[in-house]
Amino acid sequence: MDKEILDSYIKAGKVAAQVRKEGLKKLAIPDTSFLEVMDYCEKRIVELKGQIAWAQLAVNEVAAHYCPEEDDTSVNKEGQLIKIDVGVHINGYIADTAATVEVGSSKQYQDYITAAQNALKAAMKLARPGTPLYQLGEAQISEAEALGFTTVKNLSGHTLGRYKVHGGTSIPAYNNKDKRELQDNEVIAIEPFVTNGTGLIKEKNPATIFMVERLQSSRSLYGKKILEEVKSQRGLPFTTRWLTRKLGRTPALLGLKQLQQEGIIQAYPPLVEVSNGMVAQFENSMIVKDKPIVYTKDEN
Ligand code: CO
Repeated sequence: MDKEILDSYIKAGKVAAQVRKEGLKKLAIPDTSFLEVMDYCEKRIVELKGQIAWAQLAVNEVAAHYCPEEDDTSVNKEGQLIKIDVGVHINGYIADTAATVEVGSSKQYQDYITAAQNALKAAMKLARPGTPLYQLGEAQISEAEALGFTTVKNLSGHTLGRYKVHGGTSIPAYNNKDKRELQDNEVIAIEPFVTNGTGLIKEKNPATIFMVERLQSSRSLYGKKILEEVKSQRGLPFTTRWLTRKLGRTPALLGLKQLQQEGIIQAYPPLVEVSNGMVAQFENSMIVKDKPIVYTKDEN
């Protein structure tokens, strides 16, 4: 791998790990505003000289994809199981990382957290050239089952491409029989979601996260304004409150609707466990090597 690209990944990873840690610490304290924490995380990414790919969270049975709107007054509560997912990039080279915390001093979900951590660790050890993908999945679900849980089957890790959150290959969280082997220098994110539920998620509208799907101009005035506003993301996610703050609520919401109708943007609604099972998640990004480079680790 080119030295400049490698350095970009490592730098993005350091920033992402730091912001994930700081965000998680805030979310561990009851009565913290979700909006304030997400704004804080974005601010910190920039302060630490990273570029914002996203900052998201998810509570209890929601596995992923919740971003507060600008008028969201929700705060966290004692005993909630909260996932934070931070994406940072340097010139398009992405670090994707997530972690889970239980709010306050109750310890009712410690097993979920341990199981998800174990699942991630077991898969990380296998992130070497030649490992078939199904083995990464098998390693994750075995660890989840060892503590009485399962993994969410229709969520997976993924390869990372330049300005591409999903580089095209999925890293399963169970044995899906995919024999494709990891390649040297492939950049991947592994992210087991562990649950006491059925192990499946479904989308639950409304969405506050979007990505540009097709590079095409919009016929709508507000649509055009939004595309101008999110141009610098170059296909990476953006969230509703960025737009409502800049363009006003009505123009932003109308524009988002029109862009979806035109097929230019795609909405990513919150993902909820189908049986309302609780969900814990951990995620690291790494470069596949005989000795994998896990560049979003805490130690970085
Ligand atoms: Co990811």
